[in-house]
Amino acid sequence: MQDFVFYNKTKVYFGKNQLDNLGTEISRFGKKVLLVYGGGSIKKIGLYDKVMSQLEKAGMTVFELPGVEPNPHHTTVNKGAAICRKENVDVLLAVGGGSTIDATKGIAAAAKYDGDDVWDLVTRKASVTETLPIVTVLTLAATGSEMDGGCVISNVDTNEKFGYFGPDNHPDVSFLNPENTYSVSAYQTASGSADIMSHIFDVAYFSKQDEMDMLLRIQEEVLKTVVKFAPVAVKKPDDYEARANLMWASSWALNDFLYEGYSQATVCHAMEHELSAFYDITHGHGLAILTPRWLSYVLDEETAPRIRRFGVNVMGIDASLSEMEGAKEAIKALEKFFFETLGLQSRLSDLGIDDRNFAVMAKKACFGGVLHGFTDLTPDDVEKIFRMCL
Ligand code: NZQ
Ligand code: ZN
Repeated sequence: MQDFVFYNKTKVYFGKNQLDNLGTEISRFGKKVLLVYGGGSIKKIGLYDKVMSQLEKAGMTVFELPGVEPNPHHTTVNKGAAICRKENVDVLLAVGGGSTIDATKGIAAAAKYDGDDVWDLVTRKASVTETLPIVTVLTLAATGSEMDGGCVISNVDTNEKFGYFGPDNHPDVSFLNPENTYSVSAYQTASGSADIMSHIFDVAYFSKQDEMDMLLRIQEEVLKTVVKFAPVAVKKPDDYEARANLMWASSWALNDFLYEGYSQATVCHAMEHELSAFYDITHGHGLAILTPRWLSYVLDEETAPRIRRFGVNVMGIDASLSEMEGAKEAIKALEKFFFETLGLQSRLSDLGIDDRNFAVMAKKACFGGVLHGFTDLTPDDVEKIFRMCL
């Protein structure tokens, strides 16, 4: 396996009674905070009031950026950065799901940029050497943004959606209270769970690289955790144990720990980001539709043993099946899990998507080249996989 450096600076407060520490933590960074949130769910669940009360007690001056969209827009990030520059904001507080946290990470970098458009940073036309500190209060278990160093920003004018890694965009502190996810809909719970699984599949598990057995085993345990608890949370949204397991699984699925020594294209993510860039769909749902089709497409004698191993160790299929039969059963079990157990619609056509943009999207997904991963994919391969999902 490859040499690696493991570094993650995020301090995590996990559990029901941790928000009392928000004031102390946030005031370490200064007195002016920009509170960033989405379309209003945090007000409905009473979290906004709790956060404001903590900020008031800590004597913070609060500026607000509401209305961050799912698949956050670069223009919203620009608005936030403009507030930071005008008001000399010291620290950012994201309260929400991955989109809110990602927009906040974009703001943290854009606020330190001389220009006024974060898209320059996202497209690497410009760079910054520092970012504003970030504190998060997570409300949806899915992306891992609460403990990772990246963000994903959309440009709706150009149908583009790109990952961005600032100089150090890991949140400084994250508050993870599973109770804050009780109100997440069955649909977003299912989609978020597919996203958690896809991070493990995409970054590491379905790989041909030399790997460390310890990491492979832990990846399987985290996958099994999602398979066990996502159906519970879908049926019983206020099951604390299920929500807690999903929340911590989401953070660990993408906080770098599971991936030391791996480097490969995250192929389903590359394909899904084109879907949400063109059609603004829910990220995790797109991944659930793509993943089993992708596995069927890349299934051959070389990939079958790993796919079968997933089926046996994670999905509980019959261990006596041959490599090829076992791999096919594993893919069927994954489809059943996403589309029957979790109740997600199984086809892109269910989401109103047809094939008219597939050729362009496939080219863009491959960034003008080939996606190197479990098997290498050309734009032609990607287009075929999109078609399998119709
Ligand atoms: O906007 P509000 O009103 O808050 O409603 C949101 C939104 O409508 C709602 N929601 C969130 N918490 C809730 C809640 N509703 C009720 N109760 C709660 N407690 O759920 C909807 C979706 O929220 P969003 O933040 O968009 O979902 P998610 O966390 O799945 O984030 C998706 C975004 O993250 C990116 C995706 O591409 C997508 O743009 N990703 C970020 C990654 C990262 N930073 O590392 C990695 C991922 O692979 C992913 O690409
Ligand atoms: Zn994802």
